[in-house]
Amino acid sequence: MSILLIGASGRTGRLVAEKLHAGAMPFRAMLRNVAKNDEFKLLGASTVIADLEGDFSPAFDGARTVIYAAGSAETEGVEQERLIDRDAVIKSVDYAKRHGIHTFVVISALLASAPERSPEALRHYAQMKRESDDYVIASGLNFLVLRPGELTMNLGTGTIEIVSDPDTPRVPVTRHDVAKVVVEALKIGLVNKTIGFAGGNAPIFEALAAL
Ligand SMILES: NC(=O)c1ccc[n+]([C@@H]2O[C@H](COP(=O)([O-])OP(=O)(O)OC[C@H]3O[C@@H](n4cnc5c(N)ncnc54)[C@H](OP(=O)(O)O)[C@@H]3O)[C@@H](O)[C@H]2O)c1
Repeated sequence: MSILLIGASGRTGRLVAEKLHAGAMPFRAMLRNVAKNDEFKLLGASTVIADLEGDFSPAFDGARTVIYAAGSAETEGVEQERLIDRDAVIKSVDYAKRHGIHTFVVISALLASAPERSPEALRHYAQMKRESDDYVIASGLNFLVLRPGELTMNLGTGTIEIVSDPDTPRVPVTRHDVAKVVVEALKIGLVNKTIGFAGGNAPIFEALAAL
């Protein structure tokens, strides 16, 4: 195992898992629900059961790359945003440093580019994402901070738009395409980038290769 996938059973995490499996990239799925074990075994993954609110450092044993695809649920509120969108990312970075992790990838959000200009209902979430992003970027690890815009469960298009100005309204991006961005970026060894993106017309491989 060389990739630890945190939040593997989430909507995006599950799609990342499928793409890692399809790309023959060995991974360990971190799950909090043991009932999901078998579906990840079928994807060729090893699994570890752990909760982001506790000590999950043993999950990092033997990993070289970490993908953080977890997040608080939309309805859970500010306390979970603080715990899952910020504090658990920070803990993951600290564990990663202790375990000699080579590359740390986090799925953040486009709103983290400018929390102060986010809609009020999303401002705290955006601020937590921003604080965790800043911690990842300053960690000294090779990092990828991926900031997709609004997510959908539509079929993937294989295309995105790279976004540098977060204030212009954007087309939502599918979770399939976010998962493809994660896996393609790892395959081409893209590191030390903060990448805002939304739905668009640029083939993902070309968009990433141009960065
Ligand atoms: N919704 C949007 O439009 C949007 C836009 C931009 C970025 N994002 C970000 O994109 C990422 C993926 O979003 P998503 O909607 O695909 O995720 P999701 O379906 O809500 O999945 C969240 C994952 O986090 C895990 N998780 C939450 N609390 C946990 C805990 N205490 N311990 C262990 N695991 C825990 C969940 O585990 P269980 O499966 O056990 O519940 C699940 O696997 C998130 O970081 C999200 O903030 C979302």
